[in-house]
Amino acid sequence: MSYQQIFERLWEDYSTRNPNARRIHTLLANAGENVINDHVAIRTFNDKRVNIDVLSKPFLDNGYVEKGVYDFPVKKLDAKHFEHESDISAPKVFISELRTEEFSEILQAESKKVIDQIPKDLLNNPELLLFSKRPWPAVSYDLYEKIFKESEYAAWLLAYGYGANHFTVNVNALKKYDTLEKLNKFIEDHGYVLNDSGGKIKGTPEVLLEQSSTMAEKHLLEFADGKHEVTTCYYEFAKRYKQPDGKFYQGFVASSADKLFESTNK
Ligand code: NI
Repeated sequence: MSYQQIFERLWEDYSTRNPNARRIHTLLANAGENVINDHVAIRTFNDKRVNIDVLSKPFLDNGYVEKGVYDFPVKKLDAKHFEHESDISAPKVFISELRTEEFSEILQAESKKVIDQIPKDLLNNPELLLFSKRPWPAVSYDLYEKIFKESEYAAWLLAYGYGANHFTVNVNALKKYDTLEKLNKFIEDHGYVLNDSGGKIKGTPEVLLEQSSTMAEKHLLEFADGKHEVTTCYYEFAKRYKQPDGKFYQGFVASSADKLFESTNK
């Protein structure tokens, strides 16, 4: 599978779970914009069976290379970002993993339990794992709520599993809505709610990256004990600025990402 096919498949699943992303994508396309992805974000646990090294494999096998390493002390995450070695228009891939050992015994035991239940053929094939959605039986809503109090990230992961947590519109590639101010207004004028945690625009031109995002939608999700309404995913928007060497900054800013992660808070 080529990297283009990987992104198509991730978009299919993500935009089905998050119809607002598809609607906003269509609104921009109808306004004459060429919508390009800046990056795709993937979440996992730091267990060596499913960690960043495992989930990055399908990308590394398709021309991607590791470019940045990040630490999120508040959310207790490690992350890496990957770029395609020659196709500069290919989306970056941002993969984070939860440092489970820094959480309660319950969270540690439950995350191990779900990973223990992943079928062997998926654990032996990172590409299948990447597209497996939730490769373990549904957890109870009670457990989801309990884990949510400790880590929204862990609760989301238990409920949804693998696939894209979010896609991100490359604002630099837009013609009419080429600043976050203009794009945010366009999106809000169409009735969508933006994440206001830390202000609508996270980051500044000085840190070379500005981002905003929609608030995650809610939808009914199947739990072990029936359906419950939970938050899904958000759609992100990124504007990049040039470094002193004249090239656009391609990294990520941890303090901004901390705020963006809150787009899936209740
Ligand atoms: Ni992002």
